[in-house]
Amino acid sequence: MKGVILAGGLGTRLWPLTKVTNKHLLPVYNRPMIYYPLEMLVEAGIDEIMLVTGGNNAGDFLRLLGSGQEFGLRQIHFGYQEGEGGIADALSLARHFAGDDLICVVLGDNILEKSIAPFVRSFLRQGQGAKILLKKVPDPQRFGVPELNGDRVVRITEKPSRPASPYAVTGVYMYDNRVFDIIDTLSPSERGELEITDVNNRYIESNELTYNVIDGWWTDAGTIESLMRAANLVAADAGAPARLEVEMLANS
Ligand code: G1P
Repeated sequence: MKGVILAGGLGTRLWPLTKVTNKHLLPVYNRPMIYYPLEMLVEAGIDEIMLVTGGNNAGDFLRLLGSGQEFGLRQIHFGYQEGEGGIADALSLARHFAGDDLICVVLGDNILEKSIAPFVRSFLRQGQGAKILLKKVPDPQRFGVPELNGDRVVRITEKPSRPASPYAVTGVYMYDNRVFDIIDTLSPSERGELEITDVNNRYIESNELTYNVIDGWWTDAGTIESLMRAANLVAADAGAPARLEVEMLANS
């Protein structure tokens, strides 16, 4: 399986932090945000990765990641997204890179506590179609939300005002190479983007989408609050010296 990390977008929800750099280069505790999805894929045994980015700071990814060898990658490929066509549009740039292989797509601002290796193995056994990973959250209306019926996803709604379940569709998706034909047939949503949720709904319609609910924490880092939360979660996992210092200062 090959990996695709999507790291484009304007990062408007993080303004002005993203005025002069790309969101995925911002720090999350002690490392640049992009390290987390990259290391997660490598840990799951995926060592051929394409990173898709855009905007004015694309060159900084090359400076930061180099050949990818430092991360245990066999090869890292770069794609450049012109404009702001959305997640599915960015993914379409990985068509030739993917070839006939299955792919694991990760949004560059998603951080998971636990390994995705079991889900990658399970999708390799599945061999075709799609798989998504879900996580129960207190604020599902911020995300893509699945309506579930037993072990089936009935449909996914993007940022619903009345969520059909307490789950978020996380930014980790696995697809066969038909995903690119599906993207070709999509039309832009109300926010003017090709939505990954529309891709997933196509796989649901053909009864080819499976899901797993993940253990451990999961967060995105695309808003000021979630960036802070991500840093705190990572810090806590790392033994949290910085956080303890803040607490000591607050108590003194
Ligand atoms: C995107 C997806 C959404 C998903 C989320 C996960 O939202 O559109 O379905 O739940 O990532 O991080 P965005 O961050 O682009 O608003």
